[in-house]
Amino acid sequence: MTDARQGLSGLLDTEAIRKDFPILDRTVHDGKKIVYLDSAATSQKPRQVLDALNEYYERHNANVHRGVYTIAEEATALYEGARDKVAAFINAPSRNEVIFTKNASESLNLVANMLGWADEPYRVDHETEIVTTEMEHHSNIVPWQLLSQRTGAKLKWFGITDDGRLDLSNINEIITEKTKIVSFTLVSNIMGTINPVEQIVRRAQEVGALVCIDASQAAPHMVLDVQALQADFVAFTGHKMVGPTGIGVLWGRQELLEDLPPFLGGGEMIETVSMHSSTYAPAPHKFEAGTPPIAQAVGLGAAVDYLSAIGMENIHRHEQAITEYAVKRLLEVPDLRIIGPATAEDRGATISFTLGDIHPHDVGQVLDEQGIAVRVGHHCARPVCLRYGIPATTRASFYLYSTPAEVDALVDGLEHVRNFFG
Ligand code: ALA
Repeated sequence: MTDARQGLSGLLDTEAIRKDFPILDRTVHDGKKIVYLDSAATSQKPRQVLDALNEYYERHNANVHRGVYTIAEEATALYEGARDKVAAFINAPSRNEVIFTKNASESLNLVANMLGWADEPYRVDHETEIVTTEMEHHSNIVPWQLLSQRTGAKLKWFGITDDGRLDLSNINEIITEKTKIVSFTLVSNIMGTINPVEQIVRRAQEVGALVCIDASQAAPHMVLDVQALQADFVAFTGHKMVGPTGIGVLWGRQELLEDLPPFLGGGEMIETVSMHSSTYAPAPHKFEAGTPPIAQAVGLGAAVDYLSAIGMENIHRHEQAITEYAVKRLLEVPDLRIIGPATAEDRGATISFTLGDIHPHDVGQVLDEQGIAVRVGHHCARPVCLRYGIPATTRASFYLYSTPAEVDALVDGLEHVRNFFG
């Protein structure tokens, strides 16, 4: 054990937790145990989630909301039961505010399209403005660019400070009476920054703008209370929170979901259809056209059960301890520069860095040879790389199963990278 590890408190019992994640026992490259440090890209899945998926397909598989027979009713109950679990997990006032999508990108695109097709007072047009930030994942930039191109609305954004925080010094000029929607990330997927939601929401409310929060990197890691956030929409994805791929969530305030138009049309989302016109089912079904991702929703329900049993406060505390340790140890590596907050405060468990002038792809490859999995590249947040004048970063991201020993393995691995490249 290194000296720096002494005094670490708040850690979870990772020995027990890791037994739930079969993949963490895998070895690669001739017996090297995998050190998985890419949970910001996707988390690993516990046996409990894998079992729920299997059990669904082995015993209950049928289409939902249609059948009158037993297993169709069971499938519907499981799918709608997953909605109840997600609603409780995010403290939604109503289960009808939880829309299942295929991922967070679809959730954010759904908001942009609802507003693009809406009537007053929600309509985004050439006289209005859309606000986002330079810190976003592409999935919270491109949908707004598309909406801006289609409607003529002006797209504005907050910049980033040298230390990886949002620059809100010009908040009153960025968010104005013309702003219709402010959409920003709660936690940066590339730098780990946790953003000051309250300040942004307060200003948006002053001018009557809607607020959409991308919580993809928050929902897996901390208590997510949509009522406390006071936003109008909150988007996140299942696969980063120990759930399966193919399932995302959009939470929206009930009155907005009632007023706003659907984006995709098809089965499930209608009340009646004639050849001339249709009427729509109430939310959330109005926004869930076609056969939904049923098994994936059931898997997400199991993921929510798994995380809740451990406790989101406990998971957050564990990650804070790991992050504090990782920041400290990484800063000991010569030539390593953290891109984003180089402190453990107000940041999540995702750390991007550069290592001298060694290209991140080379760093990633040499780490992989030692069994260490990190993400390299622009992390779908290219404007952040442009802001700091770098082509890419190496990113290590931690989760409830990450250990201080894995941080040490990363630091040793980076030493090896430095020696390898002289
Ligand atoms: N959004 C995922 C990431 O940040 C894929 O890696």
